[in-house]
Amino acid sequence: QAIEVVVLVGSVRKKSFNRMLAQSLAELVAPSMSLRIVEISDLSYYNDELEADLPASWQRIRQEVGAADAVLFVTPEYNRSVPAVLKNAVDVLSRPYGKSVLAGKPAAVISSSPGALGGFGANHHLRQSLVGIGVNTMPTPEAYIGGIATAFDEQGKLVNASTKEFLQTFIKAFEQWVRRSKSA
Ligand code: FNR
Repeated sequence: QAIEVVVLVGSVRKKSFNRMLAQSLAELVAPSMSLRIVEISDLSYYNDELEADLPASWQRIRQEVGAADAVLFVTPEYNRSVPAVLKNAVDVLSRPYGKSVLAGKPAAVISSSPGALGGFGANHHLRQSLVGIGVNTMPTPEAYIGGIATAFDEQGKLVNASTKEFLQTFIKAFEQWVRRSKSA
């Protein structure tokens, strides 16, 4: 059975490189897996007072992520950390306490940056939050994609064969990680 992966992109820019990266990944995966971006730009800031009168956006994303087999995070780095919009999505998905739709879910993190460090800081800050809420995050391979601003052509396709190969290897490893975690 095909594995359904929801992708949370840590940028809400229309021309986001991370969104382009997520879209490229969705085209690279084997038929045994499907990748779908889930939107996070409309989520109200987390505030537990809203749990009594649930925002439709929270309801929607909790349902979408809860129904998925796995979660893939594709994120830029903002000031050496996770962009607030993505952290907010994690917060919304992790609550109410004891009812987190992320708990026990297999996940993986890809970070990217126009710079050389590939969003290492964001990648690891995100992993720290995921540890705290019991997400089953794939430890390796790690994915820090540098030079992302020159990685795509005019059509938004990856120009570099080695980047494509790396992502293919990464996503295959992730599929194995998810299948192992489901059968455990
Ligand atoms: C950045 N950027 C950035 N890049 C980086 O490698 N390390 C960092 O700490 C930061 N910090 C940072 C803070 C803020 C507020 C912004 C707006 C940007 C640059 C960032 O990587 C770049 O804008 C990417 O293009 C953002 O990803 P998307 O939107 O293209 O997916």
